[in-house]
Amino acid sequence: MKIQDSASESASEPLLDLTALRADTPGCESVIHFNNAGCGLMARPVLGAMLDHLHLEAAIGGYEASAARATEIADFHAATAELINTRPSNIAFAGSATHAYAKALSAIDFRPGDIVLTTRNDFISNQIAFLALRRRHGVEIVHAPDQPDGRGVDVEAMAALMRARRPRLVAATHVPTNSGLVQPVAEIGRHCRELDLLYLVDACQSVGQYDIDVEQIGCDLLTATCRKFLRGPRGSGFLYVSDRVLTAGYEPLFIDMYGARWTGPDTYRPVDTAARFEEWEFPYATVLGCAAAVRYALRVGIEPVARRTPALAARLREQLADIPRVRLLDGGPAPAALVTFAIDGWQPQPFKAAMDARGINSALSFREFAQFDFTDKDVEWCLRLSPHYYNTEVEVDAVAASVAELAGSAR
Ligand SMILES: Cc1ncc(COP(=O)(O)O)c(C=O)c1O
Repeated sequence: MKIQDSASESASEPLLDLTALRADTPGCESVIHFNNAGCGLMARPVLGAMLDHLHLEAAIGGYEASAARATEIADFHAATAELINTRPSNIAFAGSATHAYAKALSAIDFRPGDIVLTTRNDFISNQIAFLALRRRHGVEIVHAPDQPDGRGVDVEAMAALMRARRPRLVAATHVPTNSGLVQPVAEIGRHCRELDLLYLVDACQSVGQYDIDVEQIGCDLLTATCRKFLRGPRGSGFLYVSDRVLTAGYEPLFIDMYGARWTGPDTYRPVDTAARFEEWEFPYATVLGCAAAVRYALRVGIEPVARRTPALAARLREQLADIPRVRLLDGGPAPAALVTFAIDGWQPQPFKAAMDARGINSALSFREFAQFDFTDKDVEWCLRLSPHYYNTEVEVDAVAASVAELAGSAR
């Protein structure tokens, strides 16, 4: 990888050579990309892995190309397992985090009256899925209360609900899409393990930003996307499936010929591994791009990334806090690199367009994305700025200056 070649430290040391990392990231030349919570900028090795494979498919045929690259393709599972401290056989590739989440939910044989215990800061699509389960299967959705002052879920109250209601599923989002709040997923997990409750974690915004260790979290299932802080391609994600879940025989509804063997005219048998949650058809160029992205993240080093990325966000928050008409919205003692704020005197689209016009990528969040959180905060919309380790302090300061200028020109 280029970062190895061009970095000053030895290959075995964690590297954060910004010059090399930015040279490895073509997008850094053209934009100030503060939309990593939407989709990170791909590094050259990711792009290269994908383009090479597309060329190979065109040259020798799709099936032949995947056979020729079998080792590199298998490395997606190996690298992802290394990233989250599990084995390759516990990883399933998915077309998105939402797809992985739906597959996981489909494996649970919900009965009327079953309880899904979740939080008030869970991802919008997960909440819609629970509501759909309520509509179709009559499950009850219980939201654990929050601590005061936007500090996230009250774990003790959630644990009391676990003991009193014995939920069929406990579900938490590590970092929601609509703010930088970091939920205490490992503390929740400790209670789930004690009580032997099925536990599903959405780590979409935290994987690639923080060290994610499924053993430490104590989850049974974990979903993530590859395109955000992992800087992989769009249209990709993964599902972690614990041995507990595999051994207990959970399988997705509509398992296919890859996830199961058709053992006789009337019988099938799921495969033993998390491949049970995969499908026959893979976008192999994307899988290879993801493998390259995860290897890249491991090479850069999650630990320095986890130090630098939230620190850049903290620097940005510090400057935004001084701007009149700007209200910062991120709660919790140590927010992640999703900086959200409301701004008086602007409508959402013109404000984002004004940021776009300054070459700054950002994202909007609306109340619909966070029915509980935005109601509590009394906001209809906010702008989200999400830097990553390859962004610079100079960029942070330029972004803050742009917000200040726009806030000053608000009517
Ligand atoms: C917390 C969280 N969970 C899940 C998702 C969904 O990911 P995907 O678009 O890959 O399905 C997102 C996307 O923004 C997210 O922020």
